[in-house]
Amino acid sequence: YDLVAIPLANANWQERWERMCTITASATEADLGAVAAGLTQQGEEQRIESEDWRAGGGFLRTEVNITRSEESGNLITFASDWLELDSPVEGIRFDAELALRQEIAYASYLSITTIVIPPPKLENREYLADYARAINGALASSWHINISIRLPIAEYSPAELTARPGTPAFAAVTGDSDRCETWELWNTLRGLCGYSPRLTLMLDLSNPLPNQRSLGRWHAEPVRHIFLPCTSFIPNAKAYPVLSKSMQAFLKGIFRFRPTVVLSGTHRNLHSAGGHLAYAQYVRFLYRKSHELVPVEEYAQGYMDHLQQPLQPLMDNLEGETYEGFEKDPIKYRQYEEAVFRALMDRPQDSVTTIYVVGAGRGPLVAGCLRAAERAQRRISLTAVEKNPSAYVMQVIDLQERSALEWGSQVKLVYSDMRSFYPREKADIIVSELLGSFGDNELSPECLDGVMRTLKPDGISIPASYTSYLAPISTSRLHSEVTNPAVASASTVVDAKPAEQPYVVMFSQFHMLSEAGGRLGVDKVQECWTFDHPRPDVVVDDQGLPFTNHHNARSAHLSFHIPRAGVCHGFAGYFEAVLYADVMLSIHPERAAGDMLSWFPIFFPLAEPVYLPANSELDVQIWRLTDNTKRRVWFEWAAQTYLVASASP
Ligand SMILES: C[S@@+](CC[C@H](N)C(=O)[O-])C[C@H]1O[C@@H](n2cnc3c(N)ncnc32)[C@H](O)[C@@H]1O
Repeated sequence: YDLVAIPLANANWQERWERMCTITASATEADLGAVAAGLTQQGEEQRIESEDWRAGGGFLRTEVNITRSEESGNLITFASDWLELDSPVEGIRFDAELALRQEIAYASYLSITTIVIPPPKLENREYLADYARAINGALASSWHINISIRLPIAEYSPAELTARPGTPAFAAVTGDSDRCETWELWNTLRGLCGYSPRLTLMLDLSNPLPNQRSLGRWHAEPVRHIFLPCTSFIPNAKAYPVLSKSMQAFLKGIFRFRPTVVLSGTHRNLHSAGGHLAYAQYVRFLYRKSHELVPVEEYAQGYMDHLQQPLQPLMDNLEGETYEGFEKDPIKYRQYEEAVFRALMDRPQDSVTTIYVVGAGRGPLVAGCLRAAERAQRRISLTAVEKNPSAYVMQVIDLQERSALEWGSQVKLVYSDMRSFYPREKADIIVSELLGSFGDNELSPECLDGVMRTLKPDGISIPASYTSYLAPISTSRLHSEVTNPAVASASTVVDAKPAEQPYVVMFSQFHMLSEAGGRLGVDKVQECWTFDHPRPDVVVDDQGLPFTNHHNARSAHLSFHIPRAGVCHGFAGYFEAVLYADVMLSIHPERAAGDMLSWFPIFFPLAEPVYLPANSELDVQIWRLTDNTKRRVWFEWAAQTYLVASASP
């Protein structure tokens, strides 16, 4: 074992607390009157003992399981599980809160950093705010303590539990319904605690797992610990403890976030083979399996849930490292080469095709065009245009070397902004890669507008078009980051209003809230808008440049079907580009090939989370806006949720 998990205090403390508190806390007016009148000597003594404790008493030595701070390294401690911070009895609530503060003060004194607290109860839901207030107070009482709420993954009625979990009978009584009750408690609680990053979850898997569809929401939550008792294991053919297929699948997903697994009851000999270590060995085996990564996951490891400012390659000049990152992409250049190849194959065999690669960077698309020409057996005249002086220099060095060796004089290099590039001859094909995670967010439309005047009337642009997509997501971790900049990764959240700007991010701990279908038969991930190139309807001046940028403003009104309750923290944005004919680039989560490295999705956060009831509709508006300066482009977004009520006859 790596750590030991034990309760901080023992039964002696429970016995004294109950003696001191429950009697006075539940005393009726009549009892109190009797005590006040001195009728019961014993009652009076208890009142004094209780008041003494409330005035600031602590533990007795015999009441705690840990007494020295040397023992506290590698410990996870449990607060007393009988503390009822949400008791319907007011006096018990207040005394439980005092007891909790005492346990936290003692844990802090011992330098313990994590304490696990018993969860609020479903039947005491109306006292959830009392519970949350006590937790908030506890968080404020010690700045280094982390509180983990030990929350059952689902609650079942006694009738449901009499049917054996995992059997058809259990499925029949529990039904197909979404078991979201305990998540609802958690969602209200963490909202009342302001999404404190020090408030996390110990997901208790003692109860049977609910159906698959109820489980996805936990992927968006800060599950730091998993509580796994020996009773959740089943024996395999050789009597070793193993977990059911559905539990394995659930844990495989959750283990990606590296929670600490707390095993309990392993010495009870519930399973006859393997001994008490068999449970830990099996969990380690599952843990290892869940960390076997495909190449793209391996590449993305350091970027998981890391908020990045979107690149602005028009305004800023990119770093060498950024180009190096792009150039590792195994798919992008292959697709571009294929698109150019197909376009060349559609050209007359004996023609010479003029190609401009605009925004050529360090030249990988130039190389792709040359390969395509070779494959297609077509002659080309190739010009590469780049405005980043450093990338241009690299290209010159690279191309000079390469042209001496392999490319001859086929490639002409031009150092220029493409919008002020005035070649003598017009192009048959313009190739560019100015795409951002949302397609148009790195200003590809504005740049290409400025260079389309160098394209022949029947010329083509690669890409021919690109489309932006959006989907609502839950991601408590990223919400905490954009609303508590103190916890955000230092390099990223810089804006004065961090919850009002988009970020590029490889989502990991998130859950997509929408599904296909619903009343309107909508898609899970929905299309916002498309840009086509070239675009003959744009009004241009005598230089061939657009008068304004208004034709690049866009708006979309989307309506998502939300089948299960959840909380929306923002939107994930994706794009798809048609390079040529049916040659595509896509990061659409339902259609992407999967190992493209150049683009992570984009995140449009919401400053205030929006609670979405089951079977609701989420209306989202998003705008791409521009002003008369022709320089500024920005996004705005808004969301409202609706429950559709059926009209009574
Ligand atoms: C996303 S990078 C792609 C680089 C390269 N084609 C590749 O695929 O690795 C976009 C490139 O376009 C260049 N760029 C952006 N706007 C430009 C403009 N208006 N004129 C010329 N180059 C531009 C940037 O400097 C950057 O090198």
